[in-house]
Amino acid sequence: MISAEQLRTFEERGAVTIDTPLTTEEIAAAAAAIDALLPFKPAEPDQAPRFRYGATCNYYEPALLDLIQHPFFEAVAKRVLRADAIRFFQTAILASYPQPESEFSYDQHTDIQYSLADWAATPRRVVCSFFLWLTDVNEQRAPMMHRPGSHRLVAAARSVDPVLKDAMPGVQGIKMVDLPPEYAAPQPVLAQAGQVTVLTTSMVHGGSTNIDDKPRKALVMTYAAAGVEIGLPENQAATKREYDAKLRELLRPERAHLVAED
Ligand SMILES: [Fe+2]
Repeated sequence: MISAEQLRTFEERGAVTIDTPLTTEEIAAAAAAIDALLPFKPAEPDQAPRFRYGATCNYYEPALLDLIQHPFFEAVAKRVLRADAIRFFQTAILASYPQPESEFSYDQHTDIQYSLADWAATPRRVVCSFFLWLTDVNEQRAPMMHRPGSHRLVAAARSVDPVLKDAMPGVQGIKMVDLPPEYAAPQPVLAQAGQVTVLTTSMVHGGSTNIDDKPRKALVMTYAAAGVEIGLPENQAATKREYDAKLRELLRPERAHLVAED
């Protein structure tokens, strides 16, 4: 599942890539669902082509719902969050199409920030994010760039801020620019199709350019400990309420506990 050493790597570096028990068929079915949901669209005249596509909490393909409710991710999230019970939080799908003539570049941001107390709590007051890779990810194929350990620097800074140190964690994208030298250099997250990267999006990270010749596809699934509140911007909260209600109908009865009651 996830070993003690892998858990330590997650805590120290903010990300760890592990094997999953998913079959080649399950991965292929999810990749095909993303192909159908996020096809490459040729540019309209006078418009620059788009190479990165994504969607959040608006799809119900069985191949994707099977993964969202897969017991493996629940079991790993319980260990990561030190929780007896966890709940589905959000999901996203991502497709990054090749632009081999382009220069490699990447973004740097955090999606949420925590205090040291949020990390120290049991259960942890943090979101556990799974980036399930549906294609291989090499250094050219739009690897997520991340600064290992930066989540701890971010948490230390938040913990000395009188206003933020006791604030409830909430999703809020923050661009990270001009970082001081103690932040480790950005590194690519590399993986094989069927592996998952367990990570915290409070670490400095960002998408990069696909300068390879094949697309990169991923399913993102996030979970939080039951009873732990994580703030969402109102538009995302409304989308989540709607999606949760649908999931309560669509998940298998023995997996429906993953979706919190209203
Ligand atoms: Fe992000």
